Parts: sequence; C-alpha cells; structure tokens
Amino acid sequence: MRIVQQDNQHLALKVALRQETMRVAGCLSMPCVCETHGGTGDLARLCYADATGMVIDRDTDRVDRLAFTRPTWQVYEGDAPTVLASGLGAETAWDVLDCDPYGSPWTTLEAFFVTPRALAPIMALIVTDGSRQKQRLGGTVYGWEPWQEHYGQNLWDVFLRCSRDRATALVRHAGYALSWWHGRYGGRTGQMTYWGAVLRQREDRYSDEPAQAPAA
Ligand SMILES: C[S@@+](CC[C@H](N)C(=O)[O-])C[C@H]1O[C@@H](n2cnc3c(N)ncnc32)[C@H](O)[C@@H]1O
Repeated sequence: MRIVQQDNQHLALKVALRQETMRVAGCLSMPCVCETHGGTGDLARLCYADATGMVIDRDTDRVDRLAFTRPTWQVYEGDAPTVLASGLGAETAWDVLDCDPYGSPWTTLEAFFVTPRALAPIMALIVTDGSRQKQRLGGTVYGWEPWQEHYGQNLWDVFLRCSRDRATALVRHAGYALSWWHGRYGGRTGQMTYWGAVLRQREDRYSDEPAQAPAA
C-alpha cells in the first residue's frame, strides 16, 4: 500500500488557528513570517497575503514554485532544522514562526529556539505535529522519552497538555514565556495535533538574580 502524504488536511482549522494566534499576538496585519515548511503555499496564500518573510522547503519543485509566487520573500531550499541551526534568518526578529511539517516539529523548533537569534518581544508560534499516532503504536519519537516514561500508553490522552509543557520548556531558552495557548486534535483517528501559542519575552530574562523567596 502506498501512503500518500496529505499536505493540508484540515485546511480550515489550520487557517483559523493561524488567524486566531496572530490576532492574539497583535500581528494579524503585515507580519514578518518564518515559514519552515512552505509546501504548495496554500496556507500562506490564505494567511500571509500581506506578509513578508522567509520560507524553507526541501523539495526543489516546491521551492521553485514558492520563489515564483512569492517574489518579495526569501525562499530557501534545505532541511529546515539544519539550516535554522546554522543561523539562517537569525538576524530577523520574526513575528510569526509557522512550523507545518509532515511528522514531528520538534527538531525544527529546537533549531529555531536554541540557536542565538534576534527575537521579537511578542511572537505567534503555530505548529502541526503528526507524531501522536507513532507514539500510540509504541514508537519512540525524538525528545518525548521523559513523557513516554511517565505516561506510557496514556501519553496519547494527554498529548496536547504535554505539548504545551514541552513548548514552555523549549521557548524559555529564548527568554520567552507562553501567554496564550490553543490546541486541537484532528484527523480521522485524532493522529494530528495542531497548536498555536503567543510567546512574550519574560521581564526577568536577563536577570542573574536567584528568584526571591517571599518574605516570611
Ligand atoms: C505539510 S507540507 C507543508 C504544507 C504547507 N504549509 C502549505 O501551505 O502547503 C510539508 C512540507 O514540508 C516539506 N518538508 C518535509 N521535510 C522537510 C525538511 N526536513 N525540511 C524542509 N522541508 C521539509 C515537504 O516537502 C512539504 O512540502
């Protein structure tokens, strides 16, 4: 049996999630967008019509099409985690990070948030995660080991809450805290996870003071 990847299953849900997250982040109009998996460009056409930005894909034909349809954007062909970890786009403070891969988004998200880069005070982060099913079938998915150990098969039931915990821990590296979050399951068996978050720079991000204990 041949498995056909469907790029934009739940297109309406993905569009609504992007619009809501950008609205809450205050960057619905003319955002500066980093799109890590450009695909056929359907989402950008519906969500980022007045945006500028950078888009990456590893597929040569898709990159050619993206470059043709988005003449004002920076368009790159490459493996998203690798090029982000090497500093691509690090000089720009992006308003939106859009991560819509086929499987797990976490290597891409880690490459973005752990690599030194310019950071906007507020940022909309919108993510698709297709790895929930693999975990249910007993597969190991990179970086989920502590949660798999803790929850075992029950990780399926709490996957969204754990995604939020994992995102909170990751964006701390870049001085961000989550100020808003919304997530949904999707797909015929609930195998897809879609979430959006608004990130704000923490006021104490440069502090080397230990947290003060409340006065007795
Ligand atoms: C779900 S589709 C993205 C759909 C896109 N948001 C759209 O609006 O059409 C996933 C895309 O990621 C690309 N891709 C898969 N692995 C990649 C990687 N490691 N680095 C960059 N692009 C990758 C695929 O070529 C495919 O175009």
